[in-house]
Amino acid sequence: MTPKAKRVRKAVLPVAGLGTRFLPATKAIPKEMLTVVDKPLIQYAVEECIASGIEHVIFVTGRRKSAIEDHFDLAPELESFLEERGKSESARTVREIGGDLQFSYTRQSVALGLGHAVLCAAELVGDEPFAVLLGDVIMASNAPSCATSAHTEAPNSPIPATRELIEICDATGGAGAIHVEQVPRERLHFYGIIDAQPAEVPGGGENAIWRDRLLRVKDLVEKPSADKAPSDLGITGRYVLPPEIFDYLAETKPGAGGEIQLTDGLCRLATDGKLYATVFQGRTHDAGDKLGFLQATVEIGLKDPKLGNQFREYLRKLKL
Ligand code: UTP
Repeated sequence: MTPKAKRVRKAVLPVAGLGTRFLPATKAIPKEMLTVVDKPLIQYAVEECIASGIEHVIFVTGRRKSAIEDHFDLAPELESFLEERGKSESARTVREIGGDLQFSYTRQSVALGLGHAVLCAAELVGDEPFAVLLGDVIMASNAPSCATSAHTEAPNSPIPATRELIEICDATGGAGAIHVEQVPRERLHFYGIIDAQPAEVPGGGENAIWRDRLLRVKDLVEKPSADKAPSDLGITGRYVLPPEIFDYLAETKPGAGGEIQLTDGLCRLATDGKLYATVFQGRTHDAGDKLGFLQATVEIGLKDPKLGNQFREYLRKLKL
């Protein structure tokens, strides 16, 4: 029988990167605060945490990132100002930004890579499995939830990407889980690529929506050339990891550019047979990249309940 894993309660959101692909916009503004339609990028990730049942969000921040702390703090003056002018709906929107989440902040003083950023959260996470969400990646799931799914949304709403990984972690007795997606050959060298084989669900998960998409990861290669890539499945930006990852990251020697890559820690989990992947069902936007950001703005704008129809009409009439 698969041993019962500790519950996933915490999520680490690393936001200390320099955002060089988005200069000059990110010279003074955190990349994660760039707005897609009417919300900063990081709010999409925090909303995914809430919908996935996360209770505690840990931001790994750096210099010039204080706007993120302000965004998720209370704003009593702004709320009273809006209430006094009869703008109760706007006041509620401001008040509910962080849901009931607890927020903690820790610093990564030098941007030494994603693996290093995650390691900075080790003490705040402690000895329990946890989620990692990249704040510049928006993952809009369209995988229907199932009868056994305990996520907090309405029964027929899509299961959030992080929730799906939490279910895999639970069903496998606390193994790591990541989302992957098919990557075109000419873009393989931008991704961590997995070498994997189809996996049986080791325990539970009989009705799980991810059951037929479950893979056991044997190895990972960071940013390979197309001829060296072991598959076309690239890591997207959502992870649920066991606490052993901290020991592995602490032992990892810095690679190219002095950075500690999360992929190196993931490779160690894969070698231990403790890493699963599932092919994400939905749309991933890498909005930390200019083209990805524009695509996210158009696609999410088109789905917006208030703006969508007018925006569609505008795009239809646009003379190119
Ligand atoms: P990215 O590689 O997309 O972010 O990392 P970056 O380094 O800021 O971007 P570019 O490549 O220079 O344009 C994904 C997430 O991990 C965080 C980033 O803030 C981003 O949200 N990150 C990255 C850290 O927190 N620390 C790091 O050392 C690197």
